[in-house]
Amino acid sequence: MMNPEEHAFYRKFSKKSQVEKLAFIATLTDDEAVRLQFTWQAWARDKQLTPPGAWATWVIMAGRGFGKTRTGAEQTRIWAEEDSNARIALVARTAADIRDVMVEGESGILAISPPWFKPHYEPSKRRLTWPNGAQATTYSAEQPDQLAGPQHTKFWADERSTWQYDETWDQLQFGLRLGANPQGVVTMTPRPTKAVKALLKDETTVVTRGSTRENKGNLAKRFYREITRKYEGTRLGRQELEGEVIEDVDGALWKRESMIEALRVFKHPELKRIVVGVDPSVTSTEESAETGIVIAGVGIDDHGYVLQDRSLLASPNEWAKEVIAGYYLLEADRVIGEVNNGGDLVETVLRNIDKAISYKSVRATRGKQLRAEPVSSFYERSLIHHVGVFPDLEDQMCSWVPGEKSPDRLDALVWAFTEMMVGQVQIGGMMVDTDLRNQEEIEEDEQEQEQAYALFR
Ligand SMILES: Nc1ncnc2c1ncn2[C@@H]1O[C@H](COP(=O)(O)OP(=O)(O)OP(=O)(O)O)[C@@H](O)[C@H]1O
Ligand SMILES: [Mg+2]
Repeated sequence: MMNPEEHAFYRKFSKKSQVEKLAFIATLTDDEAVRLQFTWQAWARDKQLTPPGAWATWVIMAGRGFGKTRTGAEQTRIWAEEDSNARIALVARTAADIRDVMVEGESGILAISPPWFKPHYEPSKRRLTWPNGAQATTYSAEQPDQLAGPQHTKFWADERSTWQYDETWDQLQFGLRLGANPQGVVTMTPRPTKAVKALLKDETTVVTRGSTRENKGNLAKRFYREITRKYEGTRLGRQELEGEVIEDVDGALWKRESMIEALRVFKHPELKRIVVGVDPSVTSTEESAETGIVIAGVGIDDHGYVLQDRSLLASPNEWAKEVIAGYYLLEADRVIGEVNNGGDLVETVLRNIDKAISYKSVRATRGKQLRAEPVSSFYERSLIHHVGVFPDLEDQMCSWVPGEKSPDRLDALVWAFTEMMVGQVQIGGMMVDTDLRNQEEIEEDEQEQEQAYALFR
């Protein structure tokens, strides 16, 4: 552990201007400069340093790019340095997130470790071992069972509000009982889920809040520009940039607490139908929208269940593969694709890969609002449940106000439930979809389709 004089020295250094820092570094030998470079206390902002006092959980809830992951990684290194018997749990939403962000990411553990204290990473054993013998094991929040059994001295949990199962958290807490001071750090963009609120209320929790702006000096200009352009002035911007917890939004069709949290389940009954709703994006440039891919079912209890959100930013071929993978994995009986934005392109692209899937197109042009309302009323009547947590989808549902352009994941969800739960029109004993478009809208659709096809020529 660093002695108090050293600590004070580095904290003083951290507050100096860029010019003063460089002038000081110029007086150092190469070795000293490298040492300084890897001394977190010399660079961290106050909010990024281990809070004083006794706490069990340190929650860092801040905007994008604040330095959450960096702080989690540095705290993990400090714990490993302090205790050669440390057994640290590293948990994130998926195994890929752990590897790509927490361990191998640009602000992950390997990147911030000095050459003389770099852990040896064995992905197949899900283990990191530091030179002094301290160890960390990685756990995917998708597999709560992995955490049943192992015990730990400390943990770092990244993006807690995106974990699919609360059981992962419960198991983690249960196994946190080694050493003199079992505790952990949680890094995340704020989302007012029930689990997060409970964590914030706990009296053994300390909370650090912050905004993207606070770390502007350390962010790539392009990242900062793009993220602020994407969110500035929007409702989600207060969450994504300012790190604020946004409760219900006036005018939104979905209320977080009563219509999503209260109805959430972690298991579903036998399902009568399963469909994949797709809201396609026709291009795959950075700016363009994601393709919404939401898989949902209807149970033998006639309630609706949201099963998976596989939405992604990808080229048509890539999202088509994602749709088809989900279709087979969950044994869906149909894919429902939206026509007005890329048209029968969806069908063409899907069939290119797989001729056998069952597909139906739907038309969006007139009033997405009109389609979203009946679906939200099912939620209001407690008839639709989310099986696990779908953070991005739920953000879209709770922040979209009718009249605005509706977001992709929400659209995909609306398609899925419109197909399964909202009645179609009966004409002469046959189920027929109504096409509400007028001539102008039909022409617009055709133009969009034409543009979409052009991409493939
Ligand atoms: N105090 C600091 N000094 C220097 N660089 C920092 C500091 N804090 C963070 N950074 C750097 O800023 C960048 C963004 O940090 P980080 O990835 O930890 O942010 P984040 O909040 O996890 O972002 P995201 O919302 O994208 O997950 C990284 O390159 C990180 O190393
Ligand atoms: Mg991060």
